Amino acid sequence: MQTLILVVSLLGSIAFCKGTINGMTRKFTIRDIAQLAGVSIATVSRVLNHKPDVDPQTRERILHIMDVHSFAPDLSAVQLAGSPSRRKLSSPHAFPPDFLWGAATSAYQTEGAVREGGRGPSIWDTFVREPGTTWHGETGDVAADHYHWMLDDVALMKELQLKAYRFSVSWPRILPQGNGPINACGLDFYDRLVDALLAHDICPVATLYHWDLPLALHEQGGWLTRETAYAFADYAELMARKLGDRVSWWVTHNEPWCSAYLGYGIGTHAPGIRDFSSAVLASHHILLSHGLATERIRAHAQTEAHIGITLNLTPIYAADESEATQQGVEQLDVLHNRWFLDPLFRGTYPEQLFNNLGVAPPAIKNIDMQIIATPLDFLGVNYYSRSLIRTPLRTQHYEPVVPVPEASYTQMAWEIYPQGLSDMLLRVQRDYAPSAILITENGAAFEDSWDGRGHVPDKRRVRYLHEHLLELETVLKQGVPISGYFVWSLLDNFEWTDGYSKRFGLIYVDYITQRRIIKESGRWYAAFIKEVTATN
Ligand code: FCB
Repeated sequence: MQTLILVVSLLGSIAFCKGTINGMTRKFTIRDIAQLAGVSIATVSRVLNHKPDVDPQTRERILHIMDVHSFAPDLSAVQLAGSPSRRKLSSPHAFPPDFLWGAATSAYQTEGAVREGGRGPSIWDTFVREPGTTWHGETGDVAADHYHWMLDDVALMKELQLKAYRFSVSWPRILPQGNGPINACGLDFYDRLVDALLAHDICPVATLYHWDLPLALHEQGGWLTRETAYAFADYAELMARKLGDRVSWWVTHNEPWCSAYLGYGIGTHAPGIRDFSSAVLASHHILLSHGLATERIRAHAQTEAHIGITLNLTPIYAADESEATQQGVEQLDVLHNRWFLDPLFRGTYPEQLFNNLGVAPPAIKNIDMQIIATPLDFLGVNYYSRSLIRTPLRTQHYEPVVPVPEASYTQMAWEIYPQGLSDMLLRVQRDYAPSAILITENGAAFEDSWDGRGHVPDKRRVRYLHEHLLELETVLKQGVPISGYFVWSLLDNFEWTDGYSKRFGLIYVDYITQRRIIKESGRWYAAFIKEVTATN
């Protein structure tokens, strides 16, 4: 990096890529970027060199302008500086031939059509209507209208060279009341989706619960009651009977931490309850439902089923060596990771969990932990970022380090930290040894803009994905059994409380017309998959 700093500061107006300024085509310089951003050349240089002391908004503005004008630092300078994004896969690379190269979405975030085809309401339909819950009061009513664009979207998946697609089934589309009468029209939608995927040689990976609990079940107590766990198992069996002849990869729950902690603990997600006792009770019933559903899918799917659960895992790091920080690392690790890993793999909750949250353990029946720890065929891991903490001098309390010096951030204000993915995978392998792992989500939101024609430049997303894939290859070589990788997300979509303000897609969605435009990252991912699979 030293070399790059030197090159950039010596040659303040060093020529980079081509761009158009005032109608004239000539090479863009750092000076041009500085002018457009209304900052000094030195500030642009600091951003280029990942220096910490640029405020996040200015950094974001500068990076955005660079993206829009396809401005990239001179390659030789970057190479000299050993920039990680120029690292390459090893030769031969470590990805196995049957690796599931995919992208992911979820029902409420993409389907829209919430009142069509006999779908019942879910807790998200009502939550988003409460004032102040989402950005500008936005809802998933229309989202990316995937319900109607499904065949076009599958064709786009093919264009992206995807080998697998992870989607979620909307429970209230199948069972509008959560249990009882089946909605044939809802089943038909997923039936057609699965057939379309298979016709394009794309492997379907079905998630049964991505947070859209049928409202009717919530009104009977939702995840605070055991009955919901049994209702979920019935729904899982139904899906296994209907799709289990063609779907062989099943994820029971997506990120139960979010369902329990955000939904029932701090109330920032549906159903908006703020009570830690409720959060641990909900988590227990969700885990129980996972174990019950696993047995039922195994018993009723007609093809060999791979059944797992997806956790959002966040590695926690200490920025100093104080005792308070070390304790903080352990506490946060229990809260973010072990809360779900321990019961699933060891059949126990971490001892400190309930104490740390200041609550009594939930009512646990004798058989529960055994059901929860039913062996998994794979663990799904969603990885976005890490957490770094420190304890300021003369205090006893740890706090997050924000912003992290030298770090880059996505639009979610999540630090970009690819190494966290490999650190977390090695740790999971060492401590829990799952028989297989799928990276079920990884991706980034940036302020993408579409030029109105066919181009959405998003080099930062390309770089984000590339760097994470390189980490993945590193751990594959160390023997971690990773079977697939899914970019979040296939399409821009409804990002929960952030509404449509955050775009994660490989494909841009113009929400006015629902037109889809493959972003530069989508094209890059397609080329990457093609290259990797060609050399298998
Ligand atoms: C994950 C969710 C997914 C999406 C991404 C950005 O926590 O599973 O639905 O919102 O974050």
